[in-house]
Amino acid sequence: MAQLSIIIHPDPRLKKVSNPIVEITDRIRQLSFDMLETMYQASGVGLAAPQVGITERLVVMDCSNEGEKKDVILINPKIVWSSEDEASFEEGCLSIPDIRENITRPKSVIVKFTGLDNEHREEVFEDLWAICIQHEIDHLDGKLFIDYLGPMKRSLITRKMKKLKKELSRKL
Ligand code: NI
Repeated sequence: MAQLSIIIHPDPRLKKVSNPIVEITDRIRQLSFDMLETMYQASGVGLAAPQVGITERLVVMDCSNEGEKKDVILINPKIVWSSEDEASFEEGCLSIPDIRENITRPKSVIVKFTGLDNEHREEVFEDLWAICIQHEIDHLDGKLFIDYLGPMKRSLITRKMKKLKKELSRKL
């Protein structure tokens, strides 16, 4: 398994709408495992393919409690139902390091997706899992959690990230 480098906002690759995956090839399998490895290394709970520069509809997640491990790989995930009940959660993103903001989203969702085994599934996601899958599917549609914030807050965060990227490139 290999660790992949995570793209930091702002970057045009994070704004693209990703393409559906038509066939689950060895490349997709390898990419899924590499993305999981990358996510665990970064202590994240979710990662979407565009965050590693691949514009394909693939998401990996693990929102289980510390000590447990329950990784989920979702190919072409699609929300088919959202609850009216909403929950507010302090979200972060591996592409927007060290920023956390409260975002309100439906508390539970039903998601249709394909597994690595090519099985079509439909599962209920609740609480943190529901927040996470909505956040990750947004990535597949070129949307970031800061897009839910007001323009002032959003541009402040974008400025901070530009500064961070400059500092990181100096270190290399
Ligand atoms: Ni994210």
